[in-house]
Amino acid sequence: MKYLSISTILFLMLSTTACDNTVKETAAASADSTVTYRPLFHFTTDSNWINDPNGLVYANGKFHLFAQYNPFGNRWGHMSWAHATSTDLFNWQQLPVAIQEDIHADSTATMIFSGCAVVDSFNTSGFAEKQGQVPLVAIYTSHVDNKGTGIAQHQSLAYSLDEGVTWTKYRNNPVLDIKAKDFRDPQVFWYAPKKAWIMIVCKPDEYKVYFYSSSNLKDWKKLSEFGGIGNTSKIWECPDLFELPVEGTGEKKWVITLSAGHPQKDFLAMQYFTGSFDGEKFIADQVNYPLYLDYGKDYYAGITYKDIPAADGRKIMIGWANCWNYANDIPTKGFRGLYGVPRVLSLRKTAEGIRLVQQPVKEIEKHEELLYAVAGVEVENGVKVLDSAKGTSLDISFTLQPGTGGTAGIKVFKSGDEETAVYYNSATQTVAIDRTKSGDTSFSKVFASVDTVKVNAGDGKVKFRLLIDKSVVELFVNDGVYVLTDLVFPKQQDGGVELFSENGKAVFTDVQVKKVAKTIH
Ligand code: FRU
Repeated sequence: MKYLSISTILFLMLSTTACDNTVKETAAASADSTVTYRPLFHFTTDSNWINDPNGLVYANGKFHLFAQYNPFGNRWGHMSWAHATSTDLFNWQQLPVAIQEDIHADSTATMIFSGCAVVDSFNTSGFAEKQGQVPLVAIYTSHVDNKGTGIAQHQSLAYSLDEGVTWTKYRNNPVLDIKAKDFRDPQVFWYAPKKAWIMIVCKPDEYKVYFYSSSNLKDWKKLSEFGGIGNTSKIWECPDLFELPVEGTGEKKWVITLSAGHPQKDFLAMQYFTGSFDGEKFIADQVNYPLYLDYGKDYYAGITYKDIPAADGRKIMIGWANCWNYANDIPTKGFRGLYGVPRVLSLRKTAEGIRLVQQPVKEIEKHEELLYAVAGVEVENGVKVLDSAKGTSLDISFTLQPGTGGTAGIKVFKSGDEETAVYYNSATQTVAIDRTKSGDTSFSKVFASVDTVKVNAGDGKVKFRLLIDKSVVELFVNDGVYVLTDLVFPKQQDGGVELFSENGKAVFTDVQVKKVAKTIH
């Protein structure tokens, strides 16, 4: 979100809705004061506000995750980098704040906005203090708000010599300053053919990314620009650039992902471009952009892991499951902000063209217990309640033969009138998440929604995989060709599950409902 408007909007929200919130919290408390909406297998911090994931890097057997974090509250502000690590992408251990905002003598601040972290194996930065030390280097946007004289955004460095636990800001920051108010969210990687670091960074107000190169992470030279196509209805933020094989072919393609506008006006989403990159310039394939990564309302600022060992070889993304339109007001208690499950990215040839495909990491399956399985079941103008499948943290899969003209699918978080419906509508040929009756929708006028994506059930079948977790629904359709992520706030948390079919007969095959728990089998 454009910073000026973020801060103005946040300030207005903070100052004008305090009274409103008090009323809402009282109403929610009377429904069930024990509901916190804290997910079980989606990343959250112990307390406080988070937005974008930052600095995703694998080093010495650990997945590091940093996060845009407010150490002082549960709304956006004082942006600093929180830190957590994991060895299995499921259990996370939160560590002390890694990179803290700077407060200057005149009480202005330099906030630590989004960015990346790299393993500087050859000590190109010179930050190592002794032989054999490998610095972790963070490249982030330093955001300065010089009261009265304006905003400046530039790129800065911090380094860690103890595997990311403590960080020192580089004394000659910033390292890249083009005297711009909007210039942020660098991602840097080592481009072996040119033995150089490459940076992709957003020029949000121009709907562009810029490319730079450096031999030492400190001196940067501009290479080229890309943009102005795809969705330009909202400013561009949080870019990433990486190469992926196209499944089943010997071919590889470069992919740019970034965060911008949603197919539905006034909302936010992630989009991507496929093409080629030669170390200087990205040339997009001539296809019909925009291509969206996620059609729900709540997937933004996703970036990918660097340095995952070749023997693993996966390209894994983590995104923020939230939307700036209401992120500061979601009714969670004790924390505010969560991430989607880590997703493995690949490129697949589909009837529509080459598409970015996403699947939850398989590590989740080690924490699952089968609650319900059936090879096939028919539902005609009614529901089939899955009593043994009740739950609020579930991994659900089935293949649907929707029949003609009707709407069929599954209802989760069902309790009385409360439900989140996930279905295929044969008349409109769309997959949808309907959260209009999902529970607490009162905190934002734009939250209650039916989010859809057109899916051609070519062979008469649609495959669903649905991860639900207390306050989030992630839907992977047709093995991840289409994905929708939506927050929901079911006040009851009874976790009823039922299959349904309206206006016709639907056949559900390979139905499995698994409970996701913290225990390892
Ligand atoms: C995206 C974003 C980034 C920025 C950060 C600030 O959500 O607006 O562009 O670096 O959040 O917290």
